[in-house]
Amino acid sequence: MKLQTHRTYNFNAGPSALPISVLEKAQAELIDFRGTGMSVMELSHRSSAYETVHNQAINSLKELLSIPDNYEVLFLQGGASLQFSMIPMNFLRSGKKAGYVMTGSWSEKAFSEAKLFGDVYHAASTKESSYRSIPKVDEIEFNPDDAYLHLTSNNTIYGTQWTDFPDTGDVPLIADMSSDILSKPIDVSKFALIYAGAQKNLGPSGVTVVIIRKDLLEQANTNIPTMLKYSTHAKNNSLYNTPPTFGIYMLGEVLNWVREIGGLTAIAEQNEKKAKLIYDGIDTSNGFYIGHSEPDSRSLMNITFNLNSKELEKNFLEQAKQEGFVGVNGHRSIGGCRISAYNAVPFDACKAFSEFMIQFQKDNS
Ligand SMILES: Cc1ncc(COP(=O)(O)O)c(C=O)c1O
Repeated sequence: MKLQTHRTYNFNAGPSALPISVLEKAQAELIDFRGTGMSVMELSHRSSAYETVHNQAINSLKELLSIPDNYEVLFLQGGASLQFSMIPMNFLRSGKKAGYVMTGSWSEKAFSEAKLFGDVYHAASTKESSYRSIPKVDEIEFNPDDAYLHLTSNNTIYGTQWTDFPDTGDVPLIADMSSDILSKPIDVSKFALIYAGAQKNLGPSGVTVVIIRKDLLEQANTNIPTMLKYSTHAKNNSLYNTPPTFGIYMLGEVLNWVREIGGLTAIAEQNEKKAKLIYDGIDTSNGFYIGHSEPDSRSLMNITFNLNSKELEKNFLEQAKQEGFVGVNGHRSIGGCRISAYNAVPFDACKAFSEFMIQFQKDNS
């Protein structure tokens, strides 16, 4: 007998919701992976069964994001946070500077880490306005001979997201896309390097995806530890050491799911509809709910808002929890409320939450 599975409304910011069909497939394959008599976790990472999983995941990502041939896709470990160090270690050459566009806590962390390795500066910042917006592309100031320009494409904590990216000419553009990769089509050729922790739109935590232009690999510093060189992983197809095999398998299955439901254009349409439900709840509330982001910088992934009194906000969060909505509290650093509506969060979950917002306002006005 199949038990009715209980699935909650999961708005966690990461790790976050995974598609139910992917979880079910993993469950079905857990003990005997495709006739091997072993779990995928028990396969040697040098076996052909595992190599197929690994290469299919790389190829699916290349196909879905239309990644040009002059890029490598790497599966690394250490989270997006290790990329904050690996990027300057590899690319901040002596005598060069790197610009950082400051749009929130993750940009700050990336900047502080890079400062340990060389000369970095703020190419633009919206800190003075509490990171409510993304700078306009023409407000970003950088030097034509910089080592790179770094930005955070979606600000998970503040709830803002880039829509247009700067054209940086010969300066390599590097983006932390941890919280919006795969949420919409992007032009990968604008970037020299894209990185993302997997635990929002790509799969479980433990895998970090890096998409890197091949010419950048050749220009990297050499006096750094083997494991921290991108070239080590590129030369070895991300199999220099034991990769997080189960995470990569799950990532491959998430990519198959994205393809099955229509690819990135379909996903983007769905994400817009989901986010609109919540933003409409804010915009039609006559100030009962107060959005954090300026309207033109709103994130479709993380929707952040406050209520007009601390007491009311506390009640709202408590009641949301009682109603079965998980992950609605804002990040511990800024508080408030946050709905993370990543790819795998169903439309119905956002619909149920928007109805809850309307009802709560009625009951408390
Ligand atoms: C935009 C962004 N960058 C970096 C990180 C850090 O990622 P990790 O925990 O994988 O190191 C996060 C985590 O939420 C994030 O949202």
